[in-house]
Amino acid sequence: MTKLLGLDIGTTGVRCVAIDDRGDLVADASEEYPLYTPQPGWSEQRPEDWWEASRRVIASVAARAGRAVSGIGLAGQMHGAVFLDHKDAVIRPALLWNDQRTEAQCQAITERVGARRLTEITGNPALTGFQAPKILWLRDEEPTAYERVATVLLPKDYIRLKLTGEKATDASDASGTLLLDLKARTWSSEILQSLDIPAHWLPQVHESPERTGEATNEIATDLGLPRNIPVAAGAGDNAAAAVGNGIVRDGLASCSIGTSGVLFAHSDAIATDPSGRVHAFCHAVPNRYHLMGVTLAAGGSLRWWRDLVGKGDYEELSALAEQTPPGAEGLVFLPYLTGERTPHLDPRARGAFVGLTSRHGLGHLTRAVMEGVAYSLRDALEIIVALGADPEQIRVTGGGGRSPFWRQLLADVLGRPVVRTTADEGPAYGAALLAGVAAGVFGSIAEACAGISLRPEVCEPTTDRRILYDEYYAIYRDLYPATRSAMHDLSDLARPRD
Ligand code: XUL
Repeated sequence: MTKLLGLDIGTTGVRCVAIDDRGDLVADASEEYPLYTPQPGWSEQRPEDWWEASRRVIASVAARAGRAVSGIGLAGQMHGAVFLDHKDAVIRPALLWNDQRTEAQCQAITERVGARRLTEITGNPALTGFQAPKILWLRDEEPTAYERVATVLLPKDYIRLKLTGEKATDASDASGTLLLDLKARTWSSEILQSLDIPAHWLPQVHESPERTGEATNEIATDLGLPRNIPVAAGAGDNAAAAVGNGIVRDGLASCSIGTSGVLFAHSDAIATDPSGRVHAFCHAVPNRYHLMGVTLAAGGSLRWWRDLVGKGDYEELSALAEQTPPGAEGLVFLPYLTGERTPHLDPRARGAFVGLTSRHGLGHLTRAVMEGVAYSLRDALEIIVALGADPEQIRVTGGGGRSPFWRQLLADVLGRPVVRTTADEGPAYGAALLAGVAAGVFGSIAEACAGISLRPEVCEPTTDRRILYDEYYAIYRDLYPATRSAMHDLSDLARPRD
């Protein structure tokens, strides 16, 4: 039976899965790599680390999948900037999606293009995590490195270059650069010209299920793959995960809790939020779109908390949280540990516990962290609903989605039934389905997704908790505007001084 490989270049590590043509998982492997924060607010990784880890996980999965592999699909963390010289050598570590150093460049982009025109063309305002301001940062701050730039790629597209020798991307991932014309699904010459970014630095844009070359013979031999297997354009991690969860028609939405938290709703037509609080991006489904709200530290907040309190185990922590009442007896956590995107678009936002008393213990604080993340995802849902998408249910995915406690919390805070798919394998799984379309195993994405089924357990919102959480959420919403200026002052005070 034919096998399809999906590879996801995540922030914590890389994951490779092999599935068969019924969508069943056959093998998987993952490997972690380091993340560097050379200065507060900076976030970098070495593309060479992604490639070395990718080679090992592909080889491990290929060895178990046998010679029947017929395609590879790529997914990856969005927005990162990989700078290559004319020999395709990496010039410096990649700047990642959660890097916050480009505030000045975002202002410059908004001034040069005009805020309205920027949203008209790209669907989004200039945000620090996006790729375009990172290119301008290199020009402003590391001119010697900038002079060497011949190509700028997104993370998964660097892996494609290593696999196939081709420079290509897909429309969903390209939407996160701020250089794509959302309607035309190609690079915007108007924006490239306004920002003086040479068009030839950027790869060709494809639809996600299209083939973008084949793994080279040398790589195929090295990794134990058959020859001439196609590599699908693939997708940004969120769009790929959405395909894997079957979010391929209106009325469906997913919620992923990984390092970041994402609320993702399918949209047949472009719907942009004029104030840019949720992103409007191309979907991995050709000619379709999606709306997406991103909270930067979702699972990341709980991981920070777990490491801080020295409890190794998420289950142990979550059991403590479960023993405390909803609302954690008057305690609210703002999860803005690495600034925030939706809805504040504020790199200088800071986290907080508000309402602490001497009665509060570890369980309360843990519960508050998890509830704070859920409130932040509700911020995204409220905007998405106001823009006309009204999801009937939420399919939850990512590490956080595996916790029954977190799933019920999301159902209660978001006020929608929360379900999981049987496969629930995240972006790598969606990338494998896209590979299936590229390889001709499936006729379309709809056909690839036809086998996706839901697990029987459904978390329905409970009425009394929902009412209580509405009250807590109202307080949560008031806290950011009330503390914003103190957050900014604190952030400025903490900057390194010469
Ligand atoms: C989406 C975003 C994150 C990364 C994480 O806009 O920045 O979800 O894609 O991998």
